Order: sequence, then structure tokens, then C-alpha cells
Amino acid sequence: MPIPTVKLSNGVLMPAIGIGSSGEFGGYGHEATVYAIQDCGMRLVDTAAIYGTEKNVGKAIKESGIPRQDFFITTKLWFTDMGYESGKKALQASLKALNLEYVDLYLIHMPNCPDGTTNPTKTRQDTWRVLQEAYEQGICKSIGVSNYDIAHLEELQTMQVVPHVNQIEYHPLQDPNRDVIKYCKANNIVLQAYSPFCAGKAVSHPEIIKIAQQNKRTQGQVILRWIIQHGIVPVPKTAKVERAKENSSIFDFQLSKEDMDAMDNIHTDSFHTLNPFKDVP
Ligand SMILES: NC(=O)c1ccc[n+]([C@@H]2O[C@H](COP(=O)([O-])OP(=O)(O)OC[C@H]3O[C@@H](n4cnc5c(N)ncnc54)[C@H](OP(=O)(O)O)[C@@H]3O)[C@@H](O)[C@H]2O)c1
Repeated sequence: MPIPTVKLSNGVLMPAIGIGSSGEFGGYGHEATVYAIQDCGMRLVDTAAIYGTEKNVGKAIKESGIPRQDFFITTKLWFTDMGYESGKKALQASLKALNLEYVDLYLIHMPNCPDGTTNPTKTRQDTWRVLQEAYEQGICKSIGVSNYDIAHLEELQTMQVVPHVNQIEYHPLQDPNRDVIKYCKANNIVLQAYSPFCAGKAVSHPEIIKIAQQNKRTQGQVILRWIIQHGIVPVPKTAKVERAKENSSIFDFQLSKEDMDAMDNIHTDSFHTLNPFKDVP
């Protein structure tokens, strides 16, 4: 079954699910990535300068034999590269590592600024200008941010282009009605869910095991369905071929309202990364 798309505010179509590529939990799996592209129809691949996987993602695109224009490639600018001149260099370095002429989505990885930054708002806005210019030149087909809270998003409201996407940690162990989620939905900023399994922790929750059994699906599949039915685009990571298949086979069933409500209510406010919404000035 083909993977549906969601429309960004600039009209660009983005796949409704992607694959992550950070090596943090269980490592990056090149074979699983190529398999997910070739055999599971995955086209959105999420990487970042800091993951060290941009080169691998570039290779996976070539090895797959699928035309470049069919992909939706996301990469991210790391916080030590915040600022106008350093931001421009970071984007060029990412394109070189990916061996691509353009990316489909370029994100500021987090609102944090390098140590010693005296005016973080100005630094974030200067960095955003790099993304805006690259967007206008067609080097980035869409632009966005990651780990941005409402205050950080508001800083960009007066800019020429506002973010198309905010990628945040999102899974059933967190409140699906957090203010930042409501804000993005109200302002037409598409949300992407990173760490959709809470890096593996969410799959062993008893309520999720029960709902998975009732639906004759795996826990991973019901979690991804829950995210998608909330209108959010998950980017699960797996280094395993069989899980790549499992994670992409989620468009032939629906969770009932009862299942959605039950999963909405299991959150414990657990973030597996630092909670950027509390920590960044
Ligand atoms: N913007 C940001 O700040 C940020 C932060 C973190 C992550 N990300 C992005 O989001 C992606 C995903 O996040 P993540 O890697 O932190 O966590 P995740 O996708 O929630 O979890 C990955 C873990 O879950 C396991 N897993 C995968 N599929 C599974 C399934 N169907 N059932 C059970 N377990 C499964 C993986 O193991 P195996 O690999 O062994 O299958 C791995 O240990 C990253 O790769 C990255 O691209 C972005």
C-alpha cells in the first residue's frame, strides 16, 4: 500500500511517515534503510549533521535506484553552527555529505545556542535567515525547526517565511495535548514525531500491549497509528529489516476512538531526551 502524504503550508507534499537514522539506540542500520526504501515504499529519510549518517543516507539513495525526486530528505543544522555565516557553512557541509544538490526539508535542530551567546533570539533569527535564503534559492524545498517551544516559534512569526515543520519528541508517554502541539496545529506548522517509541520504552507499556493484541497488530504499529491519527508524522528508527517492514505496514487499519482515548491517557510526562521546553532561554 503506497504511503500517503501530508501537505505543508507551502504546498509541498511530505510522506506521512519516515525513517530515522540516528545511531543512538541500536545503531544505524544501512541494510534496513535501503530495504525500507526499496521494499517498503519509505521515501522520507531523516538525518542530521550531528548523527554522522548523512553520508550513509546519500549512499542509500543511490543504492536504492529510486530517482532523487521521489525522496523527501530531511537534515538538520546542529546548535554549535547557529549564526548566519556558520549556518551557511553547515548547510553546504550537509549537502556535500549527502551528495545532494538540495534537501526537501532543512531544520534547525534545537533552539539552543552556543556557549557565550549574548542574544539567543537574534542568533536564532540570523540562523533562520540562512534557511530562508536557501528556501528562496530552491536549495531547501521546505524549512523548519526542531525542539522549538511556542516562545521560539513566536520569534519567527515576523520573518518572511515561517516554519513549515516543527519536529519534536512525541509518543504515548507524553501528553498529546501539550500547548506547543496545539500552537503548531493552529498555525499550520506540520508536526513530526521523533523518538515515536520513546526510544523503545513505549512498546512495553501494558495498555499498548493490550491494544496491540486486540487489534492483532504489534505494539510498534499501534503507536505509529496513534501518532498518525493525531495528524503527526512519525520518524521511527530501526536497524532491523523485519521492523522496517512492520513500521511501514500501518495504512491498512485504524484505531477506534476508544483505543485512541485510552492511549491519550497513559502519558507520564516522560521525555527521553532533555525536555527542551523547560531548559532553553
Ligand atoms: N530532532 C531531534 O532532536 C531528534 C532527537 C532524537 C531522534 N530524532 C530522529 O528520530 C528518529 C527516531 O528516534 P529514536 O531513534 O530516538 O527513537 P525511536 O524511533 O522511538 O526508537 C528507536 C528504538 O526502537 C526500536 N524499534 C524500532 N522499531 C521498533 C518496533 N517496531 N518495535 C519495537 N522496537 C522498535 C529500535 O531498535 P532497532 O533499531 O534494534 O530495531 C531502537 O532501539 C531518530 O533516528 C532521528 O532520526 C530526532
